[in-house]
Amino acid sequence: MNFILQLILLIGTSSLTQANPTPPFTKPATLSLSSRKINGDSVSRKRGLHMSRALKRSLSPTSIPLTDNFRGTELEWYGSIQVGTPPQDFTVVFDTGSDELLIPGTNCTTSCSNQNKFDPTQSSTFIPDLADGIFTESFITGGDASPWGLKDWSMTLVEGADTMSVGGLSVSNVSFFLIQNQSQPFSVDPYDGILGLSTDLSDTSFFHGLISQGLPPIYGFYVTPHSVGGAELTLGGVDSSKFISQTIFAPLVADAGGAWILNSLGIAVNGQTNNVLAVDTEVLFDTGTTNVFLPLTMAEALYAFISPEIQLNPAEPGAWGIPCSSVGSLPASVDFTLQSVAGVKFNVTIPSSELSVGPFAGNTSLCQTAFNSWPSYFTIPPIIGNSLFKHYYTTWDSGNLAVGFAPI
Ligand SMILES: *[C@@H]1O[C@H](CO)[C@@H](O)[C@H](O)[C@H]1NC(C)=O
Ligand SMILES: *[C@@H]1O[C@H](CO)[C@@H](O)[C@H](O)[C@H]1NC(C)=O
Ligand SMILES: *[C@@H]1O[C@H](CO)[C@@H](O)[C@H](O)[C@H]1NC(C)=O
Ligand SMILES: *[C@@H]1O[C@H](CO)[C@@H](O)[C@H](O)[C@H]1NC(C)=O
Ligand SMILES: *[C@@H]1O[C@H](CO)[C@@H](O)[C@H](O)[C@H]1NC(C)=O
Repeated sequence: MNFILQLILLIGTSSLTQANPTPPFTKPATLSLSSRKINGDSVSRKRGLHMSRALKRSLSPTSIPLTDNFRGTELEWYGSIQVGTPPQDFTVVFDTGSDELLIPGTNCTTSCSNQNKFDPTQSSTFIPDLADGIFTESFITGGDASPWGLKDWSMTLVEGADTMSVGGLSVSNVSFFLIQNQSQPFSVDPYDGILGLSTDLSDTSFFHGLISQGLPPIYGFYVTPHSVGGAELTLGGVDSSKFISQTIFAPLVADAGGAWILNSLGIAVNGQTNNVLAVDTEVLFDTGTTNVFLPLTMAEALYAFISPEIQLNPAEPGAWGIPCSSVGSLPASVDFTLQSVAGVKFNVTIPSSELSVGPFAGNTSLCQTAFNSWPSYFTIPPIIGNSLFKHYYTTWDSGNLAVGFAPI
C-alpha cells in the first residue's frame, strides 16, 4: 500500500488521534479509508480489477448528470444512485480520492437531518454485515472551500450489502457503509453520501461488479462551472461529445497503491518557477477535493509569485486569503508539468480565474485563495481537486492506470 494512504490511515485511526495532540485533519471525500482496509489484500483486489479487463464487454457505458455543490463557489459535483429493492434514491459525490460507498442510514437521526437515509427494513435484498461492528472514520478534508483544522470531519459507520445501480447499471450484493452519525460539517452537505472510485476497489464494490459484468474500467468526468451546467459522469467510457481536443494520458506512479497519484515534474506560476516548485512531486488527483492542497513551503513559494498580499488566514488554519478588492486582477496561472504515457511532457493548468474561491464566512472582505497548505509538520504531498478538473475532460482509466486530460 502506498505511503500516502498509510499516512492517512494512521491519522484516521482513533488510537493515534487520541495520542496525537495535533488538530483533526480532515475532509469528506479524500482518501478516507476504513479500518477494515488496513487488513485488506490490496494486491489480489488490484489483480482482480486488471484481469477482468479481458472479460467480454457486455455492458455499454452510461452517463449520468452531475449537480454542482455551489455555495457562492464551486465545491464538488454529485449525482444519483439507487440502493436496495425496491430502489431507494441517494445523491453521492463520485470521489476518486476514496474507495468505499457511504450513505446515511435511518439510525442517523439529528446529524443527517438534511440527507436522505437508507432504510434497510424496506429493502428485501439488504444483507447486514456486522463483522467490523460500528466504527468511526476520519477524513482529511471536506466538501467545503476551507481546508483542514477547526473542523471535525468524521463519520460513524456500519457495514452492509445490497443491490445498487447508477444510470441503469446494476450490481447485486454491493458492500457499503451506513452512516450512523456524522460530524457537523457533513450535515450541511446537499448530497447524501460518497462513492469512492479509487483504482483499488474491493471485489464487493459497485464498480468492480460492473467490470466483472464486462464494463470497461474507465470513468469520464465532465465537471462544469455552475454558470455552464451540463456536468456529467460517464461510467465505462468517455462522452466524446464533451471535448474536441485530444486526450493526453499520464501514468499513475508505480507505488500509487490504489490512489490516483501522478508524478508532477514541476510547478510554475505565470511561467516562473524556483527550486521549491521545480521539483518532482507525487500529486493526488481527487474529484472529491474542492481546490488544491500543497505542502506549506510550496504554497509560500507559489503565492510569492502572485502577490505578497496573499497571506495565511489565522482564523482558518491552512487557508490563505487576500482582500477581495485586490484578488480579481491578479495573474495566477499555475502549470503542473506532467509526463505522458509516451514520455512527452505536457502541462495541466489552473487559470487565474480560479484564484479566488470567494469571501470567508468569518470575514467577507477577505477572499480565500484556491491553494491551501498542509501544516508544516504534516508531510502529505499535493492534492489537486476541482479547480483543475473544471478545465479538462478527465478520463480515469483503472485498467491502464492512467489519467487522461483533454482541455475543454
Ligand atoms: C440501528 O440501531 C439499532 C439499535 O441500536 C440496531 O439494532 C440496528 O441494527 C441499527 N441499524 C442499522 C442499520 O445499523
Ligand atoms: C454477498 O457477498 C458476500 C461477500 O461479500 C458473500 O459472503 C455472500 O454470500 C453474498 N451473498 C449473496 C446473497 O450473494
Ligand atoms: C455524533 O457525533 C458528534 C460529534 O461529531 C457527537 O458529539 C455526538 O455525541 C454523536 N452522537 C451520537 C448519537 O453518537
Ligand atoms: C509548461 O509550463 C512551463 C512553465 O510555464 C513552460 O516553461 C513550458 O514550456 C510548458 N511546457 C509545455 C509543454 O507547454
Ligand atoms: C478582514 O479582512 C480585512 C482584509 O484583509 C482586514 O483588513 C480586516 O482586519 C479583517 N477583519 C477581521 C475582523 O478580521
